[in-house]
Amino acid sequence: MELQRDEILDESPVVANNAMNRERELEGGNSYSRDLGLSVGELLAQRLERGHAVRWLDLCCGSGRALIQAAERFRNQELEILGVDLVDFFAPRPAGLLGLRFAVASLREWEPAESDFDLVTCVHGLHYVGDKLGLIARACSWLAEDGLLVANLDLAQVVLREGSAARRVSQVLRAQGLHYDRRKHLLRCEGRREIELPFTYLGADDQAGPNYTGQPAVASHYEIR
Ligand SMILES: C[S@@+](CC[C@H](N)C(=O)[O-])C[C@H]1O[C@@H](n2cnc3c(N)ncnc32)[C@H](O)[C@@H]1O
Repeated sequence: MELQRDEILDESPVVANNAMNRERELEGGNSYSRDLGLSVGELLAQRLERGHAVRWLDLCCGSGRALIQAAERFRNQELEILGVDLVDFFAPRPAGLLGLRFAVASLREWEPAESDFDLVTCVHGLHYVGDKLGLIARACSWLAEDGLLVANLDLAQVVLREGSAARRVSQVLRAQGLHYDRRKHLLRCEGRREIELPFTYLGADDQAGPNYTGQPAVASHYEIR
């Protein structure tokens, strides 16, 4: 099998797939809260109650609908929201949402200008990223000391040259202080972490077929260092 480099992956029909769901809302049946297993609105409200600015970074934000809804709900409060996506498919923004920004970039190389995020989310985005573990490690370092990262992750799509990846990778993540729920396919990191992963990224396979969501996704290949 020929593995792809990540810059090639950005052009892959699996990644630039028009059928993927980019329209999740903040709350409800087709939402961030449902798929992350926590109420994003409640979390933001609780943080805002502390009386200082709250910062939310959403990786692979799609249309940004959930972000626009949060910006509207907390209009005139100190909430800064930044959504990043490879594709400029952002929904029209109502006027006056000053704290809301979108960036078009590939997360294979993007870095935030400032970090210290209270919340970092990635809703069904890691499925299309080549170096998933590398992005996870970088994103954990962008958290505030008491920030929270939550992401959908399918460890069945992380492949180790040495075999039996899911168990080995989840053990390594746990040892670094992260929590992976295999049944819910959810990764959590509480508080900023500088993560050292003992894996070298080899490349991606965009022909790996559907993952647990039923959509074609990208498998990420590593070897143990
Ligand atoms: C299934 S959609 C989810 C969108 C949004 N989070 C939602 O739930 O509505 C996955 C998104 O990941 C984006 N994406 C894939 N690879 C990316 C990359 N390397 N950098 C940034 N965004 C990427 C796609 O463009 C797409 O919008």
